[in-house]
Amino acid sequence: MRLLNASGCLDALTALEVARSLDVFVTKTVTPMPRAGNDPVRIAEVDGGMLNAIGLANPGIERFCGDTLARLAGLEVWVSVGGFSVQDYADLAARLDGEDVAAIELNLSCPNVDEVPESVGEVVAAARAVTEKPLYAKLSPAVPDVAETARAAEAAGADGLSLVNTIRGLALDERTLRPVLARGPGGLSGPALRPVALAAVHACRRATALPIVGMGGVATGRHVLELLAAGANDVALGTILFSDPAAPGRIRAELEAELAAHGFADADNAVGAAHEADLPTLHQRSRVRVEKHLHTGLNVAG
Ligand SMILES: Cc1cc2nc3c(=O)[nH]c(=O)nc-3n(C[C@H](O)[C@H](O)[C@H](O)COP(=O)(O)O)c2cc1C
Repeated sequence: MRLLNASGCLDALTALEVARSLDVFVTKTVTPMPRAGNDPVRIAEVDGGMLNAIGLANPGIERFCGDTLARLAGLEVWVSVGGFSVQDYADLAARLDGEDVAAIELNLSCPNVDEVPESVGEVVAAARAVTEKPLYAKLSPAVPDVAETARAAEAAGADGLSLVNTIRGLALDERTLRPVLARGPGGLSGPALRPVALAAVHACRRATALPIVGMGGVATGRHVLELLAAGANDVALGTILFSDPAAPGRIRAELEAELAAHGFADADNAVGAAHEADLPTLHQRSRVRVEKHLHTGLNVAG
């Protein structure tokens, strides 16, 4: 299991130590042209999380490749890309193919990009045709059947899924009753998104064989364990990084304790536990491990 940051929730150039405490650094979504993003106010705190309407502010792919990428040397970098047409995604993937990046995450939850499964399939297929890099399809849970979208991404050649992006929410000013964010609605992230993320990961694990990066409201080791059990192979931290930049170390330690308490030898052993038809009890799992040790001649209990 690897611990990543969620796209847009960590700037490695200003918080290098935090990026180094993760296994993978995922960039904010890069678009073909530079974007200033939306006008402020772009972030609001709400019950159970936060709303953001940053609007994909980024330097554009050319400046990203010519400047930003070199400054990320030493990190395992996944580049999140977003566009407004199938061709945009193909151009971005082709541009990154020769660069020193470990994977490309296709942000398929952009405004103006139709999110019916067919178009997800088209975008993934177009990117697949022009790059050898691993392609992760980042999906929105705000569709009637996210598993169907996941199957479309898999059929088109995706190597993995990133689940989930934010869902649309609205906050109104206490006094004026006008929307708090300048743009009106924004993407809801944080604790309120966690059950949504769990459901999406659980459904997609049943629907595809693709590795899954789970994210949405993760703030503790217990939350990581639950996403693994639902079927995630890796986990990303988003909103928590704004309030607790030390979260990666803390969460890793909490996860170790959770795994031990549940009798898992390591994090990978917990993947999919929620799907086991007859999930062994903690007692049974401990016994299996003791028997394994006895077989190898080791007299180890536990
Ligand atoms: C301020 C902010 C900016 C974000 N920017 C991006 C982005 O550029 N691309 C993207 O795919 N997701 C973006 N996201 C969504 C996160 O990557 C993640 O999917 C979502 O926040 C759920 O995880 P969390 O609840 O742990 O934050 C952003 C989220 C926040 C809060």
